[in-house]
Amino acid sequence: MKIVHTIADLRAALAPFESPAFVPTMGNLHDGHLNLVRTAKPLGDVTVASIFVNRLQFAPHEDFDTYPRTLEADCAKLAPAGCDIVFAPSEKDLYPQPQGFKVHPPAELADILEGHFRPGFFTGVCTVVMKLFQCVFAEAKGPRYAVFGKKDYQQQMIIRRMVDQFALPVTVVSTETERAADGLALSSRNGYLSESERAEAVQLSLALRDLARDALAAGSSLPDHQAGLEQRALQALTARGWQPDYLTVRRRIDLQLPDAADAVTGQSLVVLGAARLGKTRLIDNFEI
Ligand code: PAJ
Repeated sequence: MKIVHTIADLRAALAPFESPAFVPTMGNLHDGHLNLVRTAKPLGDVTVASIFVNRLQFAPHEDFDTYPRTLEADCAKLAPAGCDIVFAPSEKDLYPQPQGFKVHPPAELADILEGHFRPGFFTGVCTVVMKLFQCVFAEAKGPRYAVFGKKDYQQQMIIRRMVDQFALPVTVVSTETERAADGLALSSRNGYLSESERAEAVQLSLALRDLARDALAAGSSLPDHQAGLEQRALQALTARGWQPDYLTVRRRIDLQLPDAADAVTGQSLVVLGAARLGKTRLIDNFEI
């Protein structure tokens, strides 16, 4: 496995290959990330992972400075997962000048849910992903695959739209969320949790499962009951000491509120939630 830090070195390492399969990450890797790498492996003739904590997607009050940077441990996990090239640029390598050109996703996708609570987040994500795609795929000749996790449901949906609208020659693959034995979605931020918070953390996914069950039970009358069901889910978490941002039922395709027809089978729906436990903000979702 090669570890490269500059765009020039990445391009040189990729030169012998035709068809990269790419997994962008911010490092501090866990099994969820490694599963993306294992998914990418058969999709190309070279498997590339990037590790870059992208300042553009953090608000000033967020955890950019404290986000765990664990390059050595990450590389030790990536090699056995089948990664061939790790691209770990410094900020100077990826953003030699301040990144003034940006990719702004449309408000109806990017200013709701995560984007409502983290203004500018998806502009930062789209901008870095577009740039990373240029770094990894620009000289490819064969199929180009990029693998994202459904753990960040809105993110993978927005990246798909970006690829679509810019006609990027990239196929986006989304993988299921990897969970700990108790059901907590794996996340780099789980490391911030104290022991007692870690025991409590699974309650977010349980609240989402309850909301999904209630939404299914409501069937075509979901639009009439949705606000009440979501309120109940929020209150259940608040009563346990959480500070929830949102728990909601949406359409998978565009993350808008479902109408009666969407709600009948539930198959096109997803429940999504974000909540703070102490200082740690966790997100999770389930496709119904
Ligand atoms: P990061 O949070 O490191 O996640 C990298 C990829 O791993 C994302 O596609 C994310 O959805 C996926 N992932 C994280 N936890 C997962 C889990 N438990 N199961 C399955 N997949 C999981 O997402 C980012 O980085 C950044 O926004 C990035 C796309 C790299 C742009 O900076």
